[in-house]
Amino acid sequence: MATRNSALGNEKVDICIVGGCGHVGLPLGLAFADQGKNVALYDINDDSIKKVNAGELPFKENGAEPVLKRVLKAGKLKATNDTKVIASAKTIITVIGTPVDEHLNPRVNDIIHAIKEIEEYLNDNQLLVLRSTLYPGVTDKVHDYLRRKGRKTMVAFCPERIAEGYALTELYELPQIVSGCTKEAAEEAAKVFKVLAKKVIVTSPIEAELAKLFTNTWRYINFSISNQFYMIANTHGLDFYNIYDAMIEDYPRLKTFARAGLAAGPCLFKDTMQLSSFSNNNFFLGHSAMLINEGLPDFMVDAMKHKYDLAHQKVAILGMAFKGDNDDPRESLSYKLKKKLEIEAESVLCHDPYVKDKNLVSMDRVRKEADIVVLATPHSVYKDEDWSDREIVDVWNFYGKGGLI
Ligand SMILES: NC(=O)c1ccc[n+]([C@@H]2O[C@H](COP(=O)([O-])OP(=O)(O)OC[C@H]3O[C@@H](n4cnc5c(N)ncnc54)[C@H](O)[C@@H]3O)[C@@H](O)[C@H]2O)c1
Repeated sequence: MATRNSALGNEKVDICIVGGCGHVGLPLGLAFADQGKNVALYDINDDSIKKVNAGELPFKENGAEPVLKRVLKAGKLKATNDTKVIASAKTIITVIGTPVDEHLNPRVNDIIHAIKEIEEYLNDNQLLVLRSTLYPGVTDKVHDYLRRKGRKTMVAFCPERIAEGYALTELYELPQIVSGCTKEAAEEAAKVFKVLAKKVIVTSPIEAELAKLFTNTWRYINFSISNQFYMIANTHGLDFYNIYDAMIEDYPRLKTFARAGLAAGPCLFKDTMQLSSFSNNNFFLGHSAMLINEGLPDFMVDAMKHKYDLAHQKVAILGMAFKGDNDDPRESLSYKLKKKLEIEAESVLCHDPYVKDKNLVSMDRVRKEADIVVLATPHSVYKDEDWSDREIVDVWNFYGKGGLI
């Protein structure tokens, strides 16, 4: 257990971020601190706290390192595990994780529990902004809970919509959806986010909660359309990308037509499942998208079994992160692919330049041993690799040589 750190010395804390050393909390704190706010990052992960205070990022985030060094030097940011820092802040923003459980139901109690943990440090002049992606109705539930406890803390919900890795540009570029359980809470939250976002859009809390879930689910469904088309084409022995390229060329209505590929990560799947739960599990489109996206690794292995004598092949998986140029392995389908291949292939080697996992192997070993290479995550650094002497499975058509398995 690390010793307790004190946050920002005697200085007033403008913003305290609960879950502040995570993928959403840290860039958000950096952005506010870089705009001159005194920011405290409250977290329970002592390793991340230590790293942040030493000027080291706990994960990959584009452009964040110089900002971290700058704001630490200016004394504008400090990470801490001392709950008392919450009492000294004008605004508290909570961004703890909101996963679904093993039955794919939202774990609503996690948020209520986190609020209970910090409750004694809240006061009536503060603004509490919920920023984690929430099951619809949870913001009002938190507000009602605090009112029942006799607290007048203003409660707002302002969803985060950045794409991981791009927070430090998108926090400034994307409009911020703002909602409050009272008019005063919405106005105060709008003031807070106008420091970063060029535009603030005000809705009710439940509309903002659904706007966030709809946004992620819309993306997840879009990926599933490409993946379903990919599987149809591949099943008929056709290269999806010949058709894809023909479809999109000079055809503006298909501008957002994604390429096929493993679509996963810590948000899209679980947010689609939260929306499904909100629709009493009658969200057929969402469930179909989930079956298609989660089924792609199975489809790939099955197609590989038909094409190769897989039981006598050493297969390498390139990329274990859930998306390209990122080091986050949470809910990555590369791991599902690995498990399936371990059943069918002679052996499986996994490589990733960024993910921390002791089971990964070097690129030298992949080069020496692999008969078949599966490009699972399109990290830019893989572009320079030449696989002309190997069998390659490239659902993304990352190497531009086609995607047919
Ligand atoms: N990752 C993304 O790109 C992204 C984008 C938009 C929205 N979101 C949403 O933001 C939320 C956070 O996601 P994340 O990816 O940043 O998660 P994360 O796991 O990276 O970060 C959460 C942080 O909260 C800390 N934490 C957990 N419980 C705590 C507690 N009780 N008190 C204090 N700290 C606590 C953890 O130690 C961790 O540092 C989720 O609701 C997610 O759906 C994430």
